[in-house]
Amino acid sequence: MASDALAWQFHKIMERWYAMGGSVSGRLAGKVAVITGAGSGIGRASALLFAAEGARVVCADLSGHEKETAAEIGDAALAVHADVARAQDVSAMIDTAVAHFGRLDILFNNAGLSGRRGPAAERDEADFDHVIGVNLKGAFLGMKYAIPAMLTGGGGSVISTASAAGLVGWKDLALYSAAKGGVVQLTKSVALDYARQNIRVNAICPGMTWTGLAGGNQSPTPPPDLIPPQPVHRWGMPHELAAAALFLASDESSFITGTAIPVDGGYVAR
Ligand SMILES: NC(=O)c1ccc[n+]([C@@H]2O[C@H](COP(=O)([O-])OP(=O)(O)OC[C@H]3O[C@@H](n4cnc5c(N)ncnc54)[C@H](O)[C@@H]3O)[C@@H](O)[C@H]2O)c1
Repeated sequence: MASDALAWQFHKIMERWYAMGGSVSGRLAGKVAVITGAGSGIGRASALLFAAEGARVVCADLSGHEKETAAEIGDAALAVHADVARAQDVSAMIDTAVAHFGRLDILFNNAGLSGRRGPAAERDEADFDHVIGVNLKGAFLGMKYAIPAMLTGGGGSVISTASAAGLVGWKDLALYSAAKGGVVQLTKSVALDYARQNIRVNAICPGMTWTGLAGGNQSPTPPPDLIPPQPVHRWGMPHELAAAALFLASDESSFITGTAIPVDGGYVAR
């Protein structure tokens, strides 16, 4: 069997395991997390995993699918409809999390989109505003409103989903690559701002991962002839990114701040 198909099967087993409350080592026991883009892909896998590890989770998205993720988790989750590119939505999302669960410990700024593909000169101002607005401004707004709430509670962990395309250039995705590169530098700079106040700020940089963004909503498993150019010769699976986010969210990474960790099957190692 192709390694993609095996990886996908393992992903579905892990999803089921999380949904059943599996992996109850309690690495996030007592913590409250807000996860954006929780209706699909990496965000959905992270919401299920964080909840399985004991967190109460606000599942935020603008797709409507955040309700399904929250329903799967049950009482430990709350669905919030929010557009991360709109300050009033993000502010309300954080206020709702604190009002409902009493505190905020973890923000996972994960919502994102790649935008239209093609050479940079063929993109227009609206493309720029959209891609930068969701990916980069969205991460900034999340930090802006979450950090004061975390400071009230004594500290916290912010994780943002950047991309391997934020670490190297990416043909036909200049705006996305610029936005994700911006997320990497935002992460490092905000980490410096709050390092002495017990707020850690890190990013994960996925390689090509089988999610909605990659076509995963059209086909549940990666087509066997669509192998991404990653050294591991297979797609990443959402639970593999969720595992990295969990590590950064948990106290196991207590000495790590200001990093952008590639989780990319070796893509940027070349
Ligand atoms: N899949 C990949 O290959 C890959 C690679 C590198 C980085 N990423 C990043 O991973 C993150 C998660 O994406 P994914 O791969 O799980 O894709 P996905 O499409 O499955 O999930 C993204 C989610 O974000 C939501 N979203 C989009 N715009 C939003 C907005 N303005 N406000 C709120 N929610 C919004 C979507 O509705 C969707 O549910 C994104 O930031 C993406 O850029 C993905």
